[in-house]
Amino acid sequence: MSRYKVTVIKGDGIGGEIVDEAIKVLDAVTANEDFTITYDECLMGGCAYDITGDPLPQETIDSCMSADAVLFGAIGGEQWDGLPRDKRPESGLLRLRKTLELYANFRPVKVYDQLVDASSLKPEVVRGVDLLVVRELTGGIYFGQPREKGEDTAFNTMVYSKEEVTRIAVQAFEAAMLRDKKVCSVDKANVLEVSQFWREIVEEVSKDYPEVSLSHMYVDNAAMQLVRDPKQFDVILTSNLFGDILSDEASMISGSIGLLPSSSIGGKVGLYEPIHGSAPDIAGQGIANPIATIASASMMMRFAFKKADIADKIDSSIEEFLALGYRTKDTASFGAKEVCLTTEVGSIIAEICCR
Ligand code: IPM
Ligand code: MG
Repeated sequence: MSRYKVTVIKGDGIGGEIVDEAIKVLDAVTANEDFTITYDECLMGGCAYDITGDPLPQETIDSCMSADAVLFGAIGGEQWDGLPRDKRPESGLLRLRKTLELYANFRPVKVYDQLVDASSLKPEVVRGVDLLVVRELTGGIYFGQPREKGEDTAFNTMVYSKEEVTRIAVQAFEAAMLRDKKVCSVDKANVLEVSQFWREIVEEVSKDYPEVSLSHMYVDNAAMQLVRDPKQFDVILTSNLFGDILSDEASMISGSIGLLPSSSIGGKVGLYEPIHGSAPDIAGQGIANPIATIASASMMMRFAFKKADIADKIDSSIEEFLALGYRTKDTASFGAKEVCLTTEVGSIIAEICCR
């Protein structure tokens, strides 16, 4: 019987609550399979800093390095905001991404039919949206050197190498080949040299994918187009910072930021996490929406373990859950027959999975 090891990082805020539900679903859906999953729970973020003085303890890195996949909740919280940058929870996550070489971040935005009314946009604008943000995750302004915070000035630098742009572009084109064969590369080439460079390299890579149509869009326009007509997009290829911003924006197309999963790959082991944060304002209340994390666990099954049938089962169970009228508080005003607590969501989806 094969065994998979998953490093579980619950993190801060609602992290533990949502990850527990994903594990509940994974346990249920894999109960009768010919493999087992063992979970190794590790610390990262503010909780890790509080206990060890480091937001990313070496132990956590070691566990991830020897795992088959990493399942992650969320990190951050006001109580750590005053810390020096390298001690902040976010630094833990950024260092983990860099250490695991997770340069490619996939953020699919799908609108659940049952939730079209939950979007802040009109139903006819969002119904049927199915796009994928491919975000570069280990370069750009997040990591660019030099960086400095001085007395009178501060700066960061947006740096991309040819290799970095090439490999993320390849990921976007490969993803597009399995979808509608459209890549829209988003940059700010009317102002930034780094974006002009990005554009040239994306053009180069596109020559290897004659079937995929490539367009370019400035990021300000893309932000507008995403709410004007999101259905025009298939794959959005973009840099670290632009992808961070556009994926939060895109999440509202689906009705709640609590719905969108993500996967990050590049190195030996992939990381699966919801795109949202640790929501300290609702932590501990049992009302967080764990669907994004459950859907991230599904991505883990699909991409890390190549278990498409199991992933399909999880995905269809989430849809069934919504179709039956179950909602969490974030989407409670939209077609809810019953508003569930976080722990009920995992139990019900797990039960649907096993039917
Ligand atoms: C995300 C988050 C992170 C990021 C933060 C927590 C560092 O916003 O995954 O989108 O900016 O990448
Ligand atoms: Mg973000």
